[in-house]
Amino acid sequence: MTGYKILVLNGPNLGALGKRQPEIYGNSTMDILPELVEQVLGKNTANVSLEFYQNNSEGKLIDRIEQAREEGIDGIVLNAGAYTHTSLALADCLAWVELPVVEVHLSNVLARSEPLRQKSFIGRHVIGVIAGFGMMSYALAVQALFQHLKD
Ligand code: DQA
Repeated sequence: MTGYKILVLNGPNLGALGKRQPEIYGNSTMDILPELVEQVLGKNTANVSLEFYQNNSEGKLIDRIEQAREEGIDGIVLNAGAYTHTSLALADCLAWVELPVVEVHLSNVLARSEPLRQKSFIGRHVIGVIAGFGMMSYALAVQALFQHLKD
């Protein structure tokens, strides 16, 4: 079996993980993701290679998604941060690139107090959403994407 290339794409303020509101987003950084992925994928870990990119700018995220399509990335795990709830531009990009995307959130956005966080502009262009499990949301998203690509 050939390996799948998965881009883990993080939007605004997610470069501050570990420092930013740990009571909401936890104390961990992206560094622990490979270990969590190994926990969930076991021997299939060898069939997945992860690439990481974080940017605070909407346009840079769109550029990276377009680039992923050109490079032959197989799928994207996307935490668009606040752009999830605001960005028609990001939604338009996902609509045409037609890469499988899993939307992730560290926090359970549906359970948070601000009603705006319950709305996702990108939700209709993704294959699924995982929210509320901290860094494990990303590992579960990699697992879901792997299954999707394999099937
Ligand atoms: C977030 C939730 C968003 O509402 C917020 O703007 C973020 C992080 C999460 O991972 O829980 O920046 O996407």
